[in-house]
Amino acid sequence: MEVRKLTVGYGAAWVLDQVSLQIGAGEFVGIVGCTGCGKTTLLKAMAGLLEVQDGEILLDGENIFSRRFDRAVLRRKVGMVFQYPEYQLFAQTVEKDVGFGLKYSRLSREEKQERVRWALEQMGFSYEEIKDQSPLSLSGGEKRRVAIAGVLATKPELLMLDEPLAGLDPMAREMFLEFLEGLTGQGVSVVMVSHNVDALAQHAARIIGMKQGKIVMDGSCQEVLGDSRALRMIGLLGSEAAQTAELLRANGVLPGSGLPVTYEALRDEIIGALTGEKGENR
Ligand SMILES: Nc1ncnc2c1ncn2[C@@H]1O[C@H](COP(=O)(O)OP(=O)(O)OP(=O)(O)O)[C@@H](O)[C@H]1O
Ligand SMILES: [Mg+2]
Repeated sequence: MEVRKLTVGYGAAWVLDQVSLQIGAGEFVGIVGCTGCGKTTLLKAMAGLLEVQDGEILLDGENIFSRRFDRAVLRRKVGMVFQYPEYQLFAQTVEKDVGFGLKYSRLSREEKQERVRWALEQMGFSYEEIKDQSPLSLSGGEKRRVAIAGVLATKPELLMLDEPLAGLDPMAREMFLEFLEGLTGQGVSVVMVSHNVDALAQHAARIIGMKQGKIVMDGSCQEVLGDSRALRMIGLLGSEAAQTAELLRANGVLPGSGLPVTYEALRDEIIGALTGEKGENR
């Protein structure tokens, strides 16, 4: 997908101001930025859900705003998990809810059922145990996982997730992130908005930083999350590991420059410093 000079406004003010970006197949991209900077708006626009004032969005080279563009292609290729997906559950059973996005697909009944089973299992459920329950009887975190399964079931080529980690316990969160990484290995592009910088440091290869409707940082995870000064300018803190490394460097405990953004990298540097080997920045 390619976004060119996208401009979106609600009323008088621009919420997205000439935003351009490209997402390649199999990329895992994290989007960070303060609350209100336009992350959700960007995702919704990329999912074709908003009217835009200016700019283009190309999906496999085709402008989605063109009159000739078949919107069904967008629905098939792009999946979006909303910021509070649990509010969108409505069917009588979990099975029906998760299968809703497949209603108009050409899959057979059995294939649809298999998809639903697969998606629920990926989200850590036992299909048999959960399928007949009412979504309303589930806990907050369970509802959220069911809602995510509903998007997974459609097997999008581009999966966009708006703050999906809130409400998942640490184990479920890690499993989910690893599952997303696995998807990228199969060529699915994943775009995830999250305030959880540590999770992004661990799993996203590329990070986009937004401020007041503009993209102000776009680079590798190391480039963006290792640049604590630039992050602070957009009102964010780096990963815990990067902050710790910064403190250790400022106090002369750790030599070198550049900030490790993951715990593994920080640990390697500390071990290197303690054993006298030269630390290697990652
Ligand atoms: N439907 C709407 N009508 C009017 N203004 C809106 C609407 N949706 C969002 N906005 C405004 O657009 C700006 C960006 O909102 P958006 O939801 O994209 O932010 P965000 O980066 O996702 O924030 P958060 O981290 O809190 O989810 C905000 O100032 C918000 O008030
Ligand atoms: Mg948002």
